[in-house]
Amino acid sequence: MTHVPVLPAEVLELLAPRAGEVYVDCTAGLGGHAAAVAPLVGPTGAIILNDVDPANLSRAVQNVQAAAPHTRIETHTGNFADLPRKLSEQAGGGGPRADMVLADLGFASTQVDDPKRGFSFSRDGPLDMRMDPSLPVTAAELVATLPERELAEVLRMYGEERHAGRIARILVREREHSPITTTGRLADVVRSAVPRRSDPSSIDPATRTFQALRIVVNDEIGSLEALLAEVGRGARAAAAGKPTWLNPGARVLVISFHSLEDRPVKQALAELASQGLVELLTDGPLGPTEEEAARNPRSRSSRLRACRIVGVRGQREKSRAGQV
Ligand SMILES: C[S@@+](CC[C@H](N)C(=O)[O-])C[C@H]1O[C@@H](n2cnc3c(N)ncnc32)[C@H](O)[C@@H]1O
Repeated sequence: MTHVPVLPAEVLELLAPRAGEVYVDCTAGLGGHAAAVAPLVGPTGAIILNDVDPANLSRAVQNVQAAAPHTRIETHTGNFADLPRKLSEQAGGGGPRADMVLADLGFASTQVDDPKRGFSFSRDGPLDMRMDPSLPVTAAELVATLPERELAEVLRMYGEERHAGRIARILVREREHSPITTTGRLADVVRSAVPRRSDPSSIDPATRTFQALRIVVNDEIGSLEALLAEVGRGARAAAAGKPTWLNPGARVLVISFHSLEDRPVKQALAELASQGLVELLTDGPLGPTEEEAARNPRSRSSRLRACRIVGVRGQREKSRAGQV
């Protein structure tokens, strides 16, 4: 399946790219969003692409180059939690500052569609799940080593799995017979613990366990919280007129795919808005139109939230008006 960027029209409308601006894509993926932005910032603008997955980063570069051959591209391989620090250091030395930031969370089609990456229970493969291939711990190692109680906690917390205790018990029993090292075997063990509901539209019983392990292997919530903290630091620095990775007026967008991700985004943006550091650009989460949901199933659970960095002038105006 080819990767189709989610909420493309909504993202472009909220980013509102202008010629000469700098776009920072925290999760470049296949460069779908970036390729749409690049022609609009033009040769005087810049596209900064970041991904933990080096193979995806190369694909993103190719796609952006094809869409806008004369636009300047800068790449960073790594967790987006570390990107603002790198950009702030560059900004201190006169490097580019972001006018637009996008984090489109989760995995890309290249990752889930490749059985060797171990994300999918529909096709058998090694139980890996690392988006960053240099991470030290795979899902197989977690399943092999976590004590039953911790395994249950992970499934409950990150999979919102009602049957966490039962699944953990059976996983521990089964791993004693033989190690669980493939996605197929993990899915079978979970299905044996939680039989599929008779309702044909119900999700596969293995879905929540896979989600939970993927979140832990990639420290997805920790990374997101670190990025949100950096947006806060950047917004405060911009309000104080200090050099930072975010330009005043920068639009910051986050697309999440489940409530564990959406909640911290909602809270962080609301907190910054209450301090007068950002203006909210979305009242609530934006989702796909019916047409997009039908055309691109991955978009169905997407939720987009956005804000604009106020910066020093806006901050003073708000203070004078007694709003902060
Ligand atoms: C949904 S895809 C992005 C798709 C992209 N917006 C496009 O239009 O092609 C998510 C990408 O984010 C990357 N990713 C996930 N978590 C990350 C993190 N913490 N830091 C950097 N990249 C991450 C994944 O490797 C994947 O390539």
